[in-house]
Amino acid sequence: MLEAQLARLAADAARLRTRHLRELIAEPGRSARYTHRAGPLLIDFSRQRIDDAALETLGAIAEESRWSDARDAMFRGDAINTSEKRPVLHTALRASESRLPILAPRNVLVEIASTLERMGALVEAVHGSGDGGVDLARGITDVVNVGIGGSDLGPRLAVEALRNAATGHVRCHFLPNVDGHRTADLMRALDPKKTLVLLVSKSFTTQETLLNGGVLRDWLASGHDGDRNAADKHLVAVSANVEAARAFGIPAGRVLPMWDFVGGRYSVWSAVGLVVALAIGMPGFRAFLRGAAQMDDHFRTAPWRENLPVLLALTGVWNRNALGPASECVVPYHDYLAELPSFLQQLEMESLGKQVTPEGTRVAQRTVPVIWGNVGTNAQHAFFQALHQGTDVVPVEFVGVVKPAHGLRANHDALLANMLAQGAAFALGKTFDEALAEAKDGSDAERRALAAQRTFPGNRPSTTILLDALTPESLGALLALHEHKVFVQAVLWGVNAFDQWGVELGKTLAKAIEPALADGADGQRLDASTRALIEAIRSQT
Ligand code: F6P
Repeated sequence: MLEAQLARLAADAARLRTRHLRELIAEPGRSARYTHRAGPLLIDFSRQRIDDAALETLGAIAEESRWSDARDAMFRGDAINTSEKRPVLHTALRASESRLPILAPRNVLVEIASTLERMGALVEAVHGSGDGGVDLARGITDVVNVGIGGSDLGPRLAVEALRNAATGHVRCHFLPNVDGHRTADLMRALDPKKTLVLLVSKSFTTQETLLNGGVLRDWLASGHDGDRNAADKHLVAVSANVEAARAFGIPAGRVLPMWDFVGGRYSVWSAVGLVVALAIGMPGFRAFLRGAAQMDDHFRTAPWRENLPVLLALTGVWNRNALGPASECVVPYHDYLAELPSFLQQLEMESLGKQVTPEGTRVAQRTVPVIWGNVGTNAQHAFFQALHQGTDVVPVEFVGVVKPAHGLRANHDALLANMLAQGAAFALGKTFDEALAEAKDGSDAERRALAAQRTFPGNRPSTTILLDALTPESLGALLALHEHKVFVQAVLWGVNAFDQWGVELGKTLAKAIEPALADGADGQRLDASTRALIEAIRSQT
């Protein structure tokens, strides 16, 4: 953003400094004005520390940034990922479910359609309803998704979230980390004759995935008495690097493609979501795409004042750049959405964790806050104390589901009541006088000391997102909502949301450290701290 725009935000923030959320929430009609719906999602922003004038300032800044032109360029397939000279077309992955004219290039759509067909054939083969022309092992009961980052977080979230939509044909397991404990656990628990291993890596160079893939390939082979041919029928790859997958030993017929025009953290809609399709079936997977496409259509057509991703982005910018908090907490009130904070962590922090523009100049404002969180109500009994009374203000995003998939009415009412109560408590707080009136015992000094400790400052912002029910459609819409929120913030902050150079340095250093750690190879080029830690580890192994 420009300095002048930041100054306008600062002026609004100064005007609002003396207005407590108690007062803002009491304004007539505020709830209706600050609540918007798109398809199966409703968002309530009324508990944000913002007023109509500040929202207008933000909207004007968004219009000045020409966010809608940038949006159209993305949908069209312009090379907006400038550092990698690539288009950004995760939206094309679900365009078949859109009601609007499709802007993505035709050749891209053809490839996507044929990949969806191949996914469908593979799902059929595994579910035993046909061989789909796929040379795969039969009798699969368990699927292991080996992949990390975007090749894990989206698929894992979707499989967990959509348990109630599962067809029940297979159990799904996830193996992201290179930590051998989980790998060993899985090999102990599963039958190699009934397990399908998915190696999911856009680059097919990711150390964790290749290492685990190699270990599982050997495990499959020894489970088939060394018959590599039989064992390999338990291996499928998803990658943009078909050559590398083939070199690993997976023939092209069992490699589903990914493409440079889809970023890892935006890839659950592609064949990276194969494990999701295996869990919920192709009709379910299509419904998941449909939910995202509905949100795409909304993003493409709604004016900013009603556009959910834009409003979510603007309130995020408001909190970060006008009010200042450096972190944002996501609390889904649904156990099946437990992976949502981790998914959003990668989506937001890998996309927006930048400090220079594509032209290489330093941005004028702070960018992404730290995203973190956990499910409610568990979170209430762990870290909410700090959110209510700590010295730092942390904006919260609540995610609730209106209709549960069980009949335990009292549980669900208690769950949602807690979510609403927490948002109210953050916003309204409890004044010292209210706390004092409640303190009945002790001397005046004791009562005042206790009241001070039982005062809640309030004025702590939150947004509430309600899903009608947790379905493939609503989950698709929820994830696409956040993808587009990130997009709009990137436009406003002037950063490229689609590269991730910041993860490279550590990877390179790890390669240099590994031989020193494993074989005591000469680590003279390493820094003194690293050398000392290597020594400490090696002295015990
Ligand atoms: O290290 C970061 C990253 O490149 C992510 O962006 C990506 O989602 C993850 O690694 C996994 O990459 P790949 O799918 O190529 O194995």
